[in-house]
Amino acid sequence: MTVVPYSRISELPSHSGQAVRVRGWVTHVRSSGKVAFIVMRDGTGLLQAVLVKNAVSPEAWDRFGKLTQETSIEVEGEVRPDARAPGGFELGVKDLSIYGESPIDYPIQPKEHGIDFLLDNRHFWLRTPRQRAIGRVRHEVEQAIRDFFYERDFTLVDTPILTSAIGERSGLFGTEYFDLGTAYLAQTGQLYGEAAAAAFGKIYCFGPTFRAEKSKTRRHLTEFWMVEPEVAFNDSDDNMRLQEEFVSYIVARVLERRQPELKELERDVSRLEKIKAPFPRIDYSDAVKILQAKGSSVKWGDDLGAEDESLLVEGQDIPVFIYNYPKQAKAFYMKENPADQRTVLCDDLLAPEGYGEIIGGSQREDNHDKLLARIKEEGLPVDAYNWYLDLRKYGTFVHSGFGLGLERTVGWICGIHHIREAIAFPRTMNRLRP
Ligand code: 4AD
Ligand code: MG
Repeated sequence: MTVVPYSRISELPSHSGQAVRVRGWVTHVRSSGKVAFIVMRDGTGLLQAVLVKNAVSPEAWDRFGKLTQETSIEVEGEVRPDARAPGGFELGVKDLSIYGESPIDYPIQPKEHGIDFLLDNRHFWLRTPRQRAIGRVRHEVEQAIRDFFYERDFTLVDTPILTSAIGERSGLFGTEYFDLGTAYLAQTGQLYGEAAAAAFGKIYCFGPTFRAEKSKTRRHLTEFWMVEPEVAFNDSDDNMRLQEEFVSYIVARVLERRQPELKELERDVSRLEKIKAPFPRIDYSDAVKILQAKGSSVKWGDDLGAEDESLLVEGQDIPVFIYNYPKQAKAFYMKENPADQRTVLCDDLLAPEGYGEIIGGSQREDNHDKLLARIKEEGLPVDAYNWYLDLRKYGTFVHSGFGLGLERTVGWICGIHHIREAIAFPRTMNRLRP
C-alpha cells in the first residue's frame, strides 16, 4: 500500500482505504489493554486513531503509554469509514511517533476555569473548540468584508498607524518620534481615508486602531480592528444604505459558510437569519423622547450610553440606526445638519440582543471655515490638520463613511458575552500578556 505523503484530518474522507500520515496534538487517550484509542486534533478536525497491541510494534505500543494531553505526534495508518468516529472516519494505526511530549501539568484541563486564568493562558486557550469556532467566524467576517468591498470596486488603502492628526475624542497612546515630538497610535484611519477618497472615489481601510480608554466594559478593547469605507459624493442617507447592505452581507456570509462554528457556539441562528436590510432609523431627538418615556434620565444633548442603547433596541430583531446626534456629542469632522444646526449628519448602528453600537458613521464637514472653527472649538492643534483642511480648499466634495468595529461585530454574531474572546490576543487596560 502506498503511503500518501501527509494529510490534514479534513482531507481524510477522500483517502478512504488508503494509508496516510497525520500530524497533530493529542486531546485524549483511552485503552482497554489490547486496543488503544487516541483522539487527536490538527486544526482541521478531530481524528480517532486506533492501535491494536499485536498489530503494531512493541515500541509504538510503548509510545502510546507516554501520550498525554497536547503531546504532538505523527500517526501512520489506514483510513477506515466508521460511523461512530468524529468525522465519520478513523485511522487504523500502523505506526506512532512522538514529536514533543507535554508534561501532565498542561494548564487547560477538561474542567471549568476562571476567566483570568484562561486569559493568562490565552496561548493555550486558543486550542479549545469554542475559541477556534470564534476565530473561524472572525476569519470569515474579515474575508466577507474584503469581498464586499472588492466586489463593489472599492480600493483598499492602508492608512498609517503612527499619526500626528488625531481623529476621535477617546484616549491616545503616544510614543516619542525622533525630533518630531509625539506620534499617536491611530484611533481611526478615517482622515487619511478622506484624502484617499478624492483620489480613488471609493476606498476602505482595515486595520488595528488604538484607544487608551479606561473602560472596563465588555465592549471595549484598547486595540481593536476597524474597517472604514469612505465614499466621495455619498451623503448621510447613502451612507446608511451602504451600512445596512454591508452588515446584512457579512451576517449572510457567516450563515452560509460557518454553520459548524455557530453550532459549536450554540448560537441561535434564527436570530441571525432575520438580519436583512433595510434597518429602522430613529432620529436622535425621537430617540431621546423614547428613552425618557422608558424612564431614562437622558437629556437632549447627551451622548447615548450603553443602557440607553439597550433600551432603544429592546424588542427589535434587527439593528437600528440612531441618526443626527447633537454636535456637542460627536467628533469635530461631522457635517453640520443644514436643517438643524444643533445637530450633525451622522449615525450609530446598534446591534440587537444588547450588543450596542457596532458602527459609527457620518457625512463629513466639507466647508473649510466651518471645519476650521470646529477644530479650534475642540482645542485641537490647527497645524496638524492643515493637510486635512486643504481637502476642503482644493475641490471640496460631499463625502461620507463609517467605521465598523470588528470585535463587536464578531462578538454579536457569535453571541459571546465579552468582545475580548473575539480577538486572538486581546489588549485591555490591565492586559498586555500573552
Ligand atoms: O464610533 P467610532 O469612534 O468612529 C470612528 O472611529 C470613525 N472615525 C469611523 C468613521 O467614520 N470612519 O468607532 C467606530 C466603531 C464603533 O462603532 C465600535 O464598533 C468600534 O469602532 N469601537 C470599539 N471597539 C472595541 N473597543 C473600543 N474601545 C472601540 N471603540 C470603538
Ligand atoms: Mg461611536
